[in-house]
Amino acid sequence: MNKSRIIPPEELKKQKEIADEVLSYWKQKGKKPLAHIITYGCQQNENDSERIKGMLDKMGYGFTEENEEADLILFNTCAVREGAEMRVLGNVGALKHLKAKKPDLLIGICGCMMQQEHMSKQVKSKYKHVSIVFGTHALYRLPEIMLEALSDNKRVFSTENSIGAIAEDIPVYREGDIKAWVSVMYGCNNFCTYCIVPYVRGRERSRRPEKIIEEIKELAQKGVKEISLLGQNVNSYGNDADFNMDFADLLREVNKIDGIRRIRFMTSHPKDMTDRLIDAMAECDKVMPQLHLPFQAGSSRVLEKMNRRYTKEQYLSLVDKVRAKLGNISMTSDIIVGFPGETEEDFKETLDVLEKVRFDSVYSFIYSKRSGTPAATMPDQIPEDVQHERFDRLLELQNKISREINEDYFEKTYELLVEGKSKTDENVMTGRTPEGKIVNFNDDGKCRAGDFVNIKITKVGTWSLTGELVL
Ligand code: 5AD
Ligand code: SF4
Repeated sequence: MNKSRIIPPEELKKQKEIADEVLSYWKQKGKKPLAHIITYGCQQNENDSERIKGMLDKMGYGFTEENEEADLILFNTCAVREGAEMRVLGNVGALKHLKAKKPDLLIGICGCMMQQEHMSKQVKSKYKHVSIVFGTHALYRLPEIMLEALSDNKRVFSTENSIGAIAEDIPVYREGDIKAWVSVMYGCNNFCTYCIVPYVRGRERSRRPEKIIEEIKELAQKGVKEISLLGQNVNSYGNDADFNMDFADLLREVNKIDGIRRIRFMTSHPKDMTDRLIDAMAECDKVMPQLHLPFQAGSSRVLEKMNRRYTKEQYLSLVDKVRAKLGNISMTSDIIVGFPGETEEDFKETLDVLEKVRFDSVYSFIYSKRSGTPAATMPDQIPEDVQHERFDRLLELQNKISREINEDYFEKTYELLVEGKSKTDENVMTGRTPEGKIVNFNDDGKCRAGDFVNIKITKVGTWSLTGELVL
C-alpha cells in the first residue's frame, strides 16, 4: 500500500458510469458537443488538461479552438503569478456577452486559481455567467460536475480542500504522438516562502512505479519516442511512499522500455539532487544531456528568506559536480527577480550565478505577491520600477550567454527528433537536439514527425538554430 491516499477504484468506476450518462445526454439531443479548453501555467497543468480532455472525450465531446462554436469553455488556471490570474479574469469577463447570446453555453474555471478560497468566492459573486468551478483536487470528479451542470442547470462549485490524493487510470487525451509528459508525482512539500503551489496542489504524493511504467509502455506502443517525467520536485519521488524506489531507480526502469528513445525530467530541487541521481543520469543512455535546476536567487541571504535550504556556494558546487560527471550538459533554471528585501548587491549575486554557470536558457520571473504565502507580508517589498529594471538587466545578460552557447553549435551535426512542421512556416520542419535545442530545417518533404535525422547547424540565433539534413 502506498501511504498517499489513492482514490478508491469504486469511486473512479462511479465517475466512469456518470461519464456514460453525460454521453447519453448528448446522444439524446442528437448533438456532438464541442469543448474549448484553455490552459495556463506549467506542464503539470498541461498534463491535467490532457486528463480533462480525456474525460470529456469519453463524455462525447469533441474539441475546438473557437469560443463561438463551443458548448463548454473551460479555463484551466495557474496561480503562481498575479499576471496570469488577471488575464484569466479578463478573458472570463469578456465571455459575458457570448453567454447572454447562448444561454446553454457552459463556462468553467478550474485548476490552481480556483483552489484558493478568495478566488472561487470572487467568481461566485462577481462572475455569475460562470457555472462550473472546481479546484485541482476535484479534477477526477469532472463527469459528476458536468452531469450536474447540464441536467440541473445550476452553478456547480467543487473547491473542497484536501492535502490531495492520487487518481489513477483517468483517460488521457494527448495532442502529439511523438512526445508525452508523464506525471510521476503530484504536490509539493517545500513551502518556498513566495510560492502558492503547496497550498493549491497539496502534499507530495508519488505514483506507484508500476503504474508509471505501464503508462509509458502503452505510450511507446503508440509510437511515442520521448518521455518527460514530471513533478514539482522529482528528486523527492518515493519519499512519501512505502515502495522502496527513488527517482534514480525510476529513471533506470524507464530507460529499459523498448521504443522510448529519449527521457527528460523536471523539476529538480537543488537541495534534493543526489549523487545517486547524477549517477543514474550518467548510466542511462536514453536520459538526455539536459538538466533544469532552478536556483531562484544568487544571494544566500535571499535564498534563506525564500526557504530554499541551500546557499549560493552549495548550488555552484552542485553544478560543478553535475558537470564533472555528466560533461557540459545543457542547463536551464528558474529565477525570481525582486523578492522582498533584495538589494542591488543581492541582485548582483544572481547575475554572478548566471555568469558562473552559463545556463543555456532561464525562465525568469518578477516576484509576484501571493496572498497566504509568508513572503507576501515580508517587509521591504521591492518597487515595480526597480523589479523591472533588474529583470531587464538579467535578460540582457542571459540573452548574451544563450547566444554565445548557441554559437558553439555552428557547423556541428546533431541527431534531431523531428517534431513536425514549424508553426510559422509550412515548408520548414522543426525538431530538437538531445540538449533540447530547437532546430528548424528544410527537408524537401523527406521527413516525418517522429523520425530521427542528422542535422548540421548552418545558422544560430538566441532562441533557435537553423540546420540542414545530413544524408
Ligand atoms: N512570483 C514569481 N515567480 C514565482 N515562481 C513561483 N512563485 C512565484 C512568485 N510568487 C516561479 C519560481 C518557480 C516557477 C515555476 O515559478 O521560479 O520555480
Ligand atoms: Fe513552489 Fe518551491 Fe514547491 Fe517549487 S519547490 S513548487 S517553487 S514551493
